[in-house]
Amino acid sequence: MDAATALRELVLDVPDHPEPGIVFKDITPLLAHPEGFAAVVEALAAAGRDEAGAVVVDAVVGMEARGFILAAPVALALGVGLVPVRKVGRLPRETHEISYALEYGEATLEIHRDGVAPGQRVLLVDDVLATGGTVAATRELVERCGGVVTGLAVLMELGFLPGRETAGDLTVTALTTV
Ligand code: PRP
Repeated sequence: MDAATALRELVLDVPDHPEPGIVFKDITPLLAHPEGFAAVVEALAAAGRDEAGAVVVDAVVGMEARGFILAAPVALALGVGLVPVRKVGRLPRETHEISYALEYGEATLEIHRDGVAPGQRVLLVDDVLATGGTVAATRELVERCGGVVTGLAVLMELGFLPGRETAGDLTVTALTTV
């Protein structure tokens, strides 16, 4: 199964979750399908390689919570470490912290201050790019550590929301646009 087929067949639309008017993209059937999961992980990991296949990032950052599920195998596929960006209050040591607006609600994210070393090249990995608020906040956190965000890889981009505009000059790899 290729990534495009996996995304088409194994991501379910759930209307009115978590609020009326929101169509939630449920990736759990995709995660439960070994071939489909492997295909999307490999497609996401390609964002961390050059055309010759060489790895061009030093770390993968995943955003809580669904981003973790994808970022961990992508990091392993690239042979680099995984750095979690977590919702506030979860990381035990010194952090950088930033608050931002979500598609629904508001959130505060944190990164360990030593999570990314100065000069490290970082690939962000998440499931969905919606308003882009999570990505912009995460990029800011990585930059406060001194890291350089070289790209974002997501399963899905919601084309009716301004995620790409918010992402600015960031290279966005979206496996599908819905
Ligand atoms: C979801 C999703 C992305 C983010 C995208 O996270 O996983 O991280 O929203 O939205 P944005 O582009 O508008 O910022 P959320 O925190 O809702 O849920 P999760 O903890 O289940 O990942």
